[in-house]
Amino acid sequence: MTLELSPGVEPGDASSQAMEAWYMDDSEEDQREPHRLVPNQPVSPDRLRELGVFHWKLNADIYETDPELELIRKEQGYSYMDIISIHKDTLANYEEKLKMFFEEHLHLDDEIRYILDGQAYFDVRDKEERWIRIAMTKGDLITLPAGIYHRFTLDRTNYTKAMRLFVGEPVWKAYNRPADDFDIRQKYVASLQDPGA
Ligand code: LAC
Ligand code: NI
Repeated sequence: MTLELSPGVEPGDASSQAMEAWYMDDSEEDQREPHRLVPNQPVSPDRLRELGVFHWKLNADIYETDPELELIRKEQGYSYMDIISIHKDTLANYEEKLKMFFEEHLHLDDEIRYILDGQAYFDVRDKEERWIRIAMTKGDLITLPAGIYHRFTLDRTNYTKAMRLFVGEPVWKAYNRPADDFDIRQKYVASLQDPGA
């Protein structure tokens, strides 16, 4: 993917506000809990970028007319978008879908999500297979690279509204782990060895 906007690195503007991320404990408690280690072990935006995870902070109050969002969509080719509200009263088969979202999986394309309201967690595997939890709040736009193992959950508030973006016609198909034979997975793993590739 080409990233001409250097997301999250312009000092002083809103996009430099870091999203919080941390290494997870492996306790069996509810997935909606933060699962922080004690003491907390934060993960920086730089570390996330090494994994191919990019982030912008936008003003979600103006998403319908936001020129910054327009520019990102244009530069990244995010032609498709829709909005999904994840709450027990708005999402059909809510429990079933949440269970599915939390299964470790990958996609053959980038996963791009922009949180318009509420909050949620994306968990991604680092190079050593440790889970990193990324706390997404209103205004966070994230891209997970094709081939990365990840999962999604609501937090204790049980609600988020997110814009789903996609390059071209959307493909939502998820491949649960193990999915190591896909070319895109091999390519992703190779990119971790050589971040310039
Ligand atoms: C997705 C998120 C749940 O695949 O990872 O839509
Ligand atoms: Ni996914």
